Amino acid sequence: MKTKANIPSSEDYRESMGRLLVLYTQVDRLIMEICAERIATAPDLAAKLALARQVGDEGRHVEIQHRWMREFGTETSPVISAEHEAMIRAHFRNLSWLDFLVDMYLCVEALGSEAVENIVPLADPGTRESLQVPLGDEQDHIAFGISRLKKELSKLPVGQRDSYLAGIPQRIGMLAETFHHLGLDVATMFENVGASYTTLCHAVLQRRDEVLEEVAA
Ligand SMILES: [Fe+2]
Ligand SMILES: [Fe+2]
Repeated sequence: MKTKANIPSSEDYRESMGRLLVLYTQVDRLIMEICAERIATAPDLAAKLALARQVGDEGRHVEIQHRWMREFGTETSPVISAEHEAMIRAHFRNLSWLDFLVDMYLCVEALGSEAVENIVPLADPGTRESLQVPLGDEQDHIAFGISRLKKELSKLPVGQRDSYLAGIPQRIGMLAETFHHLGLDVATMFENVGASYTTLCHAVLQRRDEVLEEVAA
């Protein structure tokens, strides 16, 4: 099979990296839509502006990834079904502002980015380049989420703040469980692009502990 110069020819790699690119793009589009919906109920102007900026950023990520996927030549059928997408939208729509900050910024943005960042060194040059701008922006989104979460928690009575903080790992665990129930074989996709799934899970858990420390500080 003829392949483009900077794209590895292994079929398993191409197939799995293609699926991961579709997944990342789908998640970015979902985040864009979910954050757009949140603007109206965000508690103040600073939060509304941060969400609006994020909507623009995620839109740009979707465009960059679409452009790259066309060049990469991947099959573009969705990885997350329309039914699951609707479930994810409904989940975020019903969250309090505090829970939204945890689920969106600690879970999806910080832990999701950690997984993607672990793939970057293993990726072909074109894929690596396509992820550069998006991953840079995700750092801004995570920074907003963490600082905003700290601010909201500081307004709570100490006991309430501590019990909320203590419940976050369980919250993240529940979301991870839900993600596994989507039935995506992410372990195989990661292994096929050269990542050790065990090492990757370990890195994500370590990142979770780091962000929790940052929020609690
Ligand atoms: Fe993004
Ligand atoms: Fe983001």
